[in-house]
Amino acid sequence: MLFRGLVLGLGALLSAGHVQAEVAALPVPSSCTGVAAIRFSYTAASGWKVVKVAGGLKQVRTIVWDPLGNMIVSQALKGISVHTFGADGCVNSTTMLVSNTQLNHGLALTPDGKTLYASSERAAYSWSYDPATRKVGTQKTVVQGMDTGIHSTRNLLVVPQQPNMVLLQVGSNANFDMAAGDKATGRAIIKIFDISKAPASGFNYKTDGEVFGYGLRNEIGFTTDPAGVVWGVENSGDDFTRTQNGRNVDIHKDNPAEKLNNLGDPLKTRDAWYGYPTCFAVWDPSAFTDNKALKTGSHFVLSPNSSFNDASCNTKAIAPRLTFQAHSAPIWNAFDADASNMYVTFHGSWDRQPATGFKVVQIPFTKLPSGAYDPVAPADSMTGYKDIFSATNPSSCTANGLTQSNCVRLTAASWDPAGRGLFVGSDNSAEGEIYLLSKTS
Ligand SMILES: *[C@@H]1O[C@H](CO)[C@@H](O)[C@H](O)[C@H]1NC(C)=O
Ligand SMILES: *[C@@H]1O[C@H](CO)[C@@H](O)[C@H](O)[C@H]1NC(C)=O
Repeated sequence: MLFRGLVLGLGALLSAGHVQAEVAALPVPSSCTGVAAIRFSYTAASGWKVVKVAGGLKQVRTIVWDPLGNMIVSQALKGISVHTFGADGCVNSTTMLVSNTQLNHGLALTPDGKTLYASSERAAYSWSYDPATRKVGTQKTVVQGMDTGIHSTRNLLVVPQQPNMVLLQVGSNANFDMAAGDKATGRAIIKIFDISKAPASGFNYKTDGEVFGYGLRNEIGFTTDPAGVVWGVENSGDDFTRTQNGRNVDIHKDNPAEKLNNLGDPLKTRDAWYGYPTCFAVWDPSAFTDNKALKTGSHFVLSPNSSFNDASCNTKAIAPRLTFQAHSAPIWNAFDADASNMYVTFHGSWDRQPATGFKVVQIPFTKLPSGAYDPVAPADSMTGYKDIFSATNPSSCTANGLTQSNCVRLTAASWDPAGRGLFVGSDNSAEGEIYLLSKTS
């Protein structure tokens, strides 16, 4: 087990950017003293084991690591905590870095570990941070003026190649936010800000910064691959009907697909359009009896007309690179140390019976001859990912409100720089938990 940790630790060292050389390998514990049992029943895929490393937390949303291997956690409705690990691989200290009940998801750290960012619904903040003392300096508002709406989280990412640049996302304010097609609304969008130029009161989200991508209904999680390209997971819409031969047909059970988007290199890409609120991705093509050309992952419109139809989307909007089952509710994505797999947490559904989601999936990736990283599966695949951890019976999981359920509600996903595996979080309001999923073979 220790040997495995060392091997993976070395892999982490060799990969670019975000994983730091100073982090020593740690063993995978078989259990952690003082941590209560995993709260909800689960199934792990063969070759994986699950250890709960932290419990009794508020709603865990995001996990990042400092350069010394300390785990920093965003807990919605509470703030930001930092956790150290003992030689046994278990947490041996937990302290609050920032207490702020408005913080609800976004959390990012510069690669040098010296600047921490977090977001509330309306603003993004920064603090100086010292990994050795695990203390933050004074809070500074870096961006403000984001809208409120049904999607209240604002994901953040520091661009590893240029850490003064920060991506900040805002989702749509409704299931169909028709106005969000206009970038000036500052919704369904990811903007990029040069924080070194932030005015004293912070940037205005709507009028400042540059547009990285838009037409993104709720790009709630995104991460970079070792080449610096950003990959995002997108929650798509609910209660869909499609006008087919003059009739409104209910297609909501298996459409639209949730998306995995290749969002491009943040140093080069600007103004890329991903389709919302006009173009959505197909999960189950059999629901589209009026257009047999559609495949899984193709874009479609709700109501084709003579000036704009499915084909118009497929020439104008960037289609997802891969899709997930409708209503999975992907929240976070993370690569392993050599980017041979991406992992995605599925928060779970309310708009589908039987329910789906409540799991962590693994997407095999490959490095192309060009040096680009890409999923192994083609874009029209319905089998491009597999479950590695899930609620025992996802189809019977309830989803009353955003954080209640009789099952785990998976959120954070982050690969451990100490080589133990994938850390995932749950924001079930009954208990915030963090699990370590590690490979046994
Ligand atoms: C946690 O474990 C580390 C590694 O053994 C040790 O350096 C540190 O002092 C421990 N911290 C506490 C609070 O026990
Ligand atoms: C055709 O569909 C597009 C896209 O949904 C929409 O923006 C446009 O208003 C529609 N045109 C007409 C004439 O209905």
